Amino acid sequence: SKITFNYSKALGYIGNHEIKALEPTIDIAHKMLHDKTGLGNDFLGWVDLPAFYDKKELEKIKETAEKIQNQSDVLIVVGIGGSYLGARAAIEMLSHSFYNLLPKNKRKTPEIYFAGHNMSARYIKDLLEIIEGKDISLNVISKSGTTTEPAIAFRILKAYMENKYGKEGVKDRIYATTDKEQGALKTMSEEEGYETFVIPDDVGGRYSVLTAVGFLPIAVAGIDIGQVMEGAYEAYKDLNNSTLEKNHCYQYAVVRNILYNKGKTVEVLVNYEPSLYYMGEWWKQLFGESEGKDHKGIFPASVNFSTDLHSMGQYIQDGRRNIFETVLHIESLQEEVLIPQQEKDLDGLNYLTEKTVDDINKGIFEATLLAHDDGGVPNLIINIPEISCYFYGYLVYFFEKACGISGYLLGVNPFDQPGVEAYKNNMFTLLGKRGYEKQREEMLKRLNK
Ligand code: PA5
Repeated sequence: SKITFNYSKALGYIGNHEIKALEPTIDIAHKMLHDKTGLGNDFLGWVDLPAFYDKKELEKIKETAEKIQNQSDVLIVVGIGGSYLGARAAIEMLSHSFYNLLPKNKRKTPEIYFAGHNMSARYIKDLLEIIEGKDISLNVISKSGTTTEPAIAFRILKAYMENKYGKEGVKDRIYATTDKEQGALKTMSEEEGYETFVIPDDVGGRYSVLTAVGFLPIAVAGIDIGQVMEGAYEAYKDLNNSTLEKNHCYQYAVVRNILYNKGKTVEVLVNYEPSLYYMGEWWKQLFGESEGKDHKGIFPASVNFSTDLHSMGQYIQDGRRNIFETVLHIESLQEEVLIPQQEKDLDGLNYLTEKTVDDINKGIFEATLLAHDDGGVPNLIINIPEISCYFYGYLVYFFEKACGISGYLLGVNPFDQPGVEAYKNNMFTLLGKRGYEKQREEMLKRLNK
């Protein structure tokens, strides 16, 4: 079974002839991706990854994950942006809602905490408190090996672990995922004797979840990464087809592009399951970083329903009409939680006792769809048969491909991130990193320092 795309609730805003008009353009964009002839073609390793990934590396990841599961109570995952969000999205989507809080007899795998994705001293201090007295393994992930936030978090946690296990002891507990030959993290790993995993040269950060970047932490959480890859592989086959009618991923790319050109410049990704919260965060990075350049691009936002129907719902229903929604709709029944009958119907809910909580969640989805349609918000629906490892992999590939195609439709390079580099360079300059002295003086002047 497949993930499908339904744009019937956008047909009041666009016509099928407009979609048809883009067929030849889609064909070109498809060829640019597959023949590697478009902008950013050095970073297209993700396109064929599900078919040609390094099977040995995947086995090594599985073995290491098992070792970490046996050796530690806690795994700390250090990384930011593309070196963080995919793994977190998978673990949140596919694990127990209160994973870290489960008692040991209910969770055979380590607690998982993330670090290096902020620069908060309080967060680090609290993390150190929570891991006190527990056995720890750590996976540090950085393609460049020089990103400030994870590098600092790693330095602190490395010192903590060396203090606990000794320099020899940590060799067996620190795992580095980085470039195969370059960068500070690679050099350090060689010096210190850490086991390393490779981020392929031609896969950029935000497209890297289906490599060791995502797979090691995901596997430690007990998630079947073979199944994730299987789902991605099915998507790879299903979506390797430039016939728009048959390719739901390309339909999504085309429809969002048409809406954007009609002034719908904000896309809101909607979920009805809290476990999909980080999927929204991952998606925002993927699309925001790929399309937001040259003063163009859809602004990607996300909401979590029904929670946010009681806050952002007002804006979506009634605010400025420059938005459209893309709903992640889970088709299968979630859990069968019944609504109990009460003798005295004091809260007036007895009329719902034939229904499950999930029925009502799905009812909210349908009711909201119509309300927002009436309010002038085109709604796009991505139908996901169920929440599973397989469909996580399928969805990741679906969005990655839609993003590449969308970027080419927009006329940008979807695979670079000059804006992120601009911040990183300013940061190095301001902190006084060697090699940045010249720019520093000028920057201090601008900051009146
Ligand atoms: O997509 C990007 O380039 C960024 O979000 C990076 O993934 C993020 O800054 C982390 O970079 P690195 O893996 O080099 O530490």
